[in-house]
Amino acid sequence: TVLAAVTAKKGTFHFGSTYDTFDADQSWFDSVFSTFFRHVVAENGCKWDATEPSQGVSSLTECLGAQSFATQFNNTFRGHNTFWHSQTPSWLPGSFSASQVVGTIIPQHVQAEIQGMGSSVTSWDVVNEVVGDGVSAGMTSLQCVQNKGDWPTVTSDGSGQPLVTDLSFIFAAFKTAFQFAGANTRLAVNDYNTGGAEAKTACVINLIKSIQSNTTIPFNRRVPSLSHLTASTGGFDSKSALASTFSTLAALGVSTMITEMDIEVNADTTPNLRYQAAIWGDYLDACLFASNCFEFINWDPRDDLSWRGSSAAATLFDTNGNPKPAAYEVAARL
Ligand code: XIL
Repeated sequence: TVLAAVTAKKGTFHFGSTYDTFDADQSWFDSVFSTFFRHVVAENGCKWDATEPSQGVSSLTECLGAQSFATQFNNTFRGHNTFWHSQTPSWLPGSFSASQVVGTIIPQHVQAEIQGMGSSVTSWDVVNEVVGDGVSAGMTSLQCVQNKGDWPTVTSDGSGQPLVTDLSFIFAAFKTAFQFAGANTRLAVNDYNTGGAEAKTACVINLIKSIQSNTTIPFNRRVPSLSHLTASTGGFDSKSALASTFSTLAALGVSTMITEMDIEVNADTTPNLRYQAAIWGDYLDACLFASNCFEFINWDPRDDLSWRGSSAAATLFDTNGNPKPAAYEVAARL
């Protein structure tokens, strides 16, 4: 049954990596995205600073560029992201009241970006990294979000408080996303250090429930997804912990995905690379075996291009662009 489920998925499973139009070594990208990866996300090109550099002016050149790179090789494309506290445009911080941000700024931005990128986008990270790192079990969605320390980058008065007295900014982003996204586009709550039994995972699940119970959002149309499982040394979730979270989400009618996979090992010794390969395989297995996991993104395709730094050796391909053991490990499963 497991093998049949995996086989059935092969045609619809989106396995890919990051790409920006300004990345170096275009010919290497061309070859790896025409042979190995089948799915593309812009590493930076669809973020708020890139897509709305002046207020109310939609600028999708980089985001569309990454999408057409995908299309060129018959690959699919996912969107990252419509709302994040980081890489915001310079006109935003310190300029608007919470009600302006919730009532106008967010809906305008989310609509322009999602509508502009079209209905073929497989999924959007509608809100990115909105849960704090200091959360604990039993916190409400609002407490989880209030625990995040970065709100001053999107609120008016520098204190961060006005925007997070309630969840209205998250609801505003999702409501707009549901209105303008394609009928099959998955809409995600994306966060790192989630996936297994972490308190942050419970926060994301609670947040999804809060979104589901908000009657202004037509949830019968689409489901949001838990995602963004970044693994760094020692911080891994077991296959069974992932499986348990994924099935909790399935029971809520929610799909899931792994959106930013990288594994820091910090020295490319043989034991490290084997260890890295094993963990990578486990994460891919967890996603392939789950009934509701359809996308798997490797964050940065190559060690020397990794945001973790070259010496972290955190990706599937080495600094010469050659496949590492982890690349063979995943290739055997796809
Ligand atoms: C990173 C990019 O990889 C870098 O190029 C950029 O300088 C900073 O952002 N979580 C996210 C991603 O959701 O958008 C971040 O990407 C990595 C952490």
